[in-house]
Amino acid sequence: MTTDVLQIELRKAERSRIQEVDFNHLPFGKHFSDHMFVADFVDGQWQNQLIVPFDNFTLSPALSSLHYGQSIFEGMKAFKNEAGEVSMFRPYANFERMNESARRMCMATLPEEVFMGGLEALLRVDADWVPDTPESSLYVRPYMFGTDTFLGVAPSKTYRFCIFTCPVGPYYSNPPKLKVETEYSRSAPGGVGYAKCAGNYGGSLYPTMLAQQQGYDQLIWTDAREHKYIEESGTMNIMFIIDGKLVTPATSDTILKGVTRDSILKIARNWGVEVEERLVSVDEIISAIETGRLTEAFGAGTAVGCAAYSLIGYNGKDYMLPEFAPEDSFAVRIKNYLTDLRTGKVDDTFGWMHQV
Ligand code: COI
Repeated sequence: MTTDVLQIELRKAERSRIQEVDFNHLPFGKHFSDHMFVADFVDGQWQNQLIVPFDNFTLSPALSSLHYGQSIFEGMKAFKNEAGEVSMFRPYANFERMNESARRMCMATLPEEVFMGGLEALLRVDADWVPDTPESSLYVRPYMFGTDTFLGVAPSKTYRFCIFTCPVGPYYSNPPKLKVETEYSRSAPGGVGYAKCAGNYGGSLYPTMLAQQQGYDQLIWTDAREHKYIEESGTMNIMFIIDGKLVTPATSDTILKGVTRDSILKIARNWGVEVEERLVSVDEIISAIETGRLTEAFGAGTAVGCAAYSLIGYNGKDYMLPEFAPEDSFAVRIKNYLTDLRTGKVDDTFGWMHQV
């Protein structure tokens, strides 16, 4: 694949929409920054790299990915430090995972210069959109989909890669209530659960809606064979503090390898917290709640960050999770540490921040 011809052409928006956004009240995923990056994979090469005003695409009704689901994405965040400099959190981890998803979905992979080059150029053009208000950041959404106009079921030969961004505030306003899912499955062994492909999210909506009708916010996904072992929660990885140890399901082909998950595990080990990555059964968690050994349950993901849960429903019974003072909570300490790291208030000892 030749990439030496790659140049990014910038077509600037005639006027910025930034004044229309209240940066003190940012909903998740509703305001889009002025520009987007677009590149096309045609004739075996990534080409036509553009930064253009955020706008609609014109697509064929026969677009293969609309029918057969060759569509993958990533979620990442950019932050501003006190000096106003913009950095990304671990963008190479997302770059690598995007290509893992692409390989699983039989799609073209992205060269580093297209992914990182497009990302950096876009963030420089829209740097004013990176919030510096508390609990806010610029959510970055890279994604790719097949663009062949062909109805035979086959890998597309052409793809579009796009990155757009949105200034966002917190994802949840209250600690979510979870229900353990024992009928539907998010993923199965040998499937695509570890890939960040669109269909994984589409398939989760119906069971989640059923749980929401019963008063829960999100699901705890369990293994597809027995519904016995915990895999993920909502769109996130899930973690527990049991007997002071950080316990989380080991990743596999049914669980997404979360960048936030990996970061939390590395920080915890660095802090001397014992970490267990292993099979975690629902029965173990219920028993640990009942005996007071479980002190925290929280989700870890890019969009949400680190979100403490308030309740777990299982087999028709609700189990309240313990309340704690924020200073005693591992999840709150991690959340604060990650915020400080990302906004330059503590040293980047892990080398995770990438200045643009
Ligand atoms: C993320 O945390 O970036 C996610 O992928 C969740 C998203 C689907 C809102």
